[in-house]
Amino acid sequence: MNNFLEIRNLSKKYTGVQNIEIFNNLNLQLSDNQIVALTGPSGCGKTTLLHILSLLDNNINGEYILNNKNLSNLNKVQKNSLRQNKIAILFQNFNLIEDLNSLENVILPNLNSFNKYSSSVEKGMNLLKEFNLDKRLNHLPSQLSGGEQQRVALARSLINDPELILADEPTGNLDPENTEIVINYLKNLKCKKRLILFATHNRDLVNKCDLELTIKNRTVNSL
Ligand SMILES: Nc1ncnc2c1ncn2[C@@H]1O[C@H](COP(=O)(O)OP(=O)(O)OP(=O)(O)O)[C@@H](O)[C@H]1O
Ligand SMILES: [Mg+2]
Repeated sequence: MNNFLEIRNLSKKYTGVQNIEIFNNLNLQLSDNQIVALTGPSGCGKTTLLHILSLLDNNINGEYILNNKNLSNLNKVQKNSLRQNKIAILFQNFNLIEDLNSLENVILPNLNSFNKYSSSVEKGMNLLKEFNLDKRLNHLPSQLSGGEQQRVALARSLINDPELILADEPTGNLDPENTEIVINYLKNLKCKKRLILFATHNRDLVNKCDLELTIKNRTVNSL
């Protein structure tokens, strides 16, 4: 097994109202080219772990190595750049920009001085088509159903061809047909130098994955 993603001695505590120890000495090694389900009861730390892996949580101890690069001591700019280009995160609440339509939301992370606007648009339209949203390109988020917003957010997370795809209950708002579309699309993204990890409570989805990781006793175990 190659170690595409490795976590060493991770500890995470929330302090404030109450001290909560979420992870204690967590070690994790995952190879690429697979889709992995992250499970465990509500409150065990799934979202917390996804935030840590997407470099959004600076309040941790431990080491994080992705594709042979140690990400533990990066500065804010370096972290933002990785999140724009290499690490995609799909949140439980989709974080779409209200004033932009579906297509504009999807292509936004892809707009930079190196990419042609027309190729970003083409890429965005293709992704939205994959998720059955080609008739919703010009809708604002407020004009979309919850499931449609979720699929727009998923398309946006994929536009820059990330190598690590993290998702927090990506099919939570979807009907069975669109759940199938999303999971099949995620499975098709599997390839060398890419890993997909998502939190879910849905056993049918877990059964479609290559591996199940579950959080128990402040650490992660593979089942
Ligand atoms: N910012 C915070 N400050 C203090 N405690 C927090 C904070 N964020 C989360 N927690 C606590 O940490 C624990 C883990 O939360 P987390 O959101 O990671 O759980 P989860 O496994 O994703 O749950 P769910 O399945 O309900 O989404 C919870 O008990 C929660 O109350
Ligand atoms: Mg959660």
